[in-house]
Amino acid sequence: MLPKQLRQRVTNALLACALGGLAGCGKPSDNGDAATCTTATLGQAAACSGRLLGTALATAHFSEESYMSRALEFNYVTPENEMKWEHTEPTRDQFSFDLGDQIVDFANQNGIRVKGHTLVWHNQLPSWVGAISDPDDLRAAMLDHITTEVEHFRGKVAAWDVVNEAWDPNDPTLLRDSVFSELLGPAFIDDAFTAARAADPDVKLYYNDYGADGLGAKSDSIYDMVADMKTRGIPIDGVGLQMHWRSSAARPSASDVAANIQRLGALGLEVVISEMDVDICNGGTLDEQAAMFHDVVAACLSQPACKAVTFWGITDKYSWLNYFDTSCADGDTPRPLLFDDDYQRKPAYAGVLDALARR
Ligand code: XIL
Repeated sequence: MLPKQLRQRVTNALLACALGGLAGCGKPSDNGDAATCTTATLGQAAACSGRLLGTALATAHFSEESYMSRALEFNYVTPENEMKWEHTEPTRDQFSFDLGDQIVDFANQNGIRVKGHTLVWHNQLPSWVGAISDPDDLRAAMLDHITTEVEHFRGKVAAWDVVNEAWDPNDPTLLRDSVFSELLGPAFIDDAFTAARAADPDVKLYYNDYGADGLGAKSDSIYDMVADMKTRGIPIDGVGLQMHWRSSAARPSASDVAANIQRLGALGLEVVISEMDVDICNGGTLDEQAAMFHDVVAACLSQPACKAVTFWGITDKYSWLNYFDTSCADGDTPRPLLFDDDYQRKPAYAGVLDALARR
């Protein structure tokens, strides 16, 4: 469908909602009953098919009214940085959950679910962890970190990214070099999941990574790893496909994404698309971006195992790619999200809503 037609569909949906009075635009039906579903927000539209539509949230922008009102479009949030190890335990045994609590409080007050992110990752790790050289000491520090953080947020978050980006981006047959893999070997992953489960018996536990969204060597390695974990009874509930894409680079087809989700689902795992953004610097168009967002959301909806699609931020203005993507030419910007710098809906927004409306 052409983007212009997409926009028309969205306008019609919003208009119908407004004309129908506020009652028709209220809380989404939890049971996915199409007759009672509204599409006034992305979260409502997603709830109609029992899915979560998420964004990364950053407390640094909480004082901005437009940011907070756009956050209410979503029914799922992931703290962009606030629950990472460098923020929650910057000094050994000194925990700080204030920023994470702010996100959880906002979400809980607004009926939004939270995914905790992330317990064990080689990045944004406080220097004291990287300085540990004794395996027993590192293992104790890791288990204590996981236990304390998961217990703190128990009952307040629906899921955790327990281990993030453990596979080597350059050699998909290897775990990446990190203090964890070097000192503890691959067992650190089992140990992390087991500790998280002990600290919260009800929360969903996910493995999260990038460059493994469709079919390929890295997603094969991750598939084999999680299949093996399931066989051995390691408590893992799902896999996050980050889906950081560039319109100017190779990326998997939507049907490969669906096939990857399907095979993970066949293991009894949930799948979430966990950090999607599509960088359109270097010649990408807003309409191409809209089509990619549409097709990925449609791929998720085509698979019962796929429970959520989260975008890595609300507005282009605050995307991490503005400072992490060095490939954009001078004067060009990534513009990778659903809302532009002024919080206006982009064609990508219409693409997502259209995919949700066709559930
Ligand atoms: C990024 C944040 O968006 C940035 O603000 C921060 O400086 C670096 O991390 N994969 C992940 C996320 O799992 O945690 C990363 O978030 C983006 C890549």
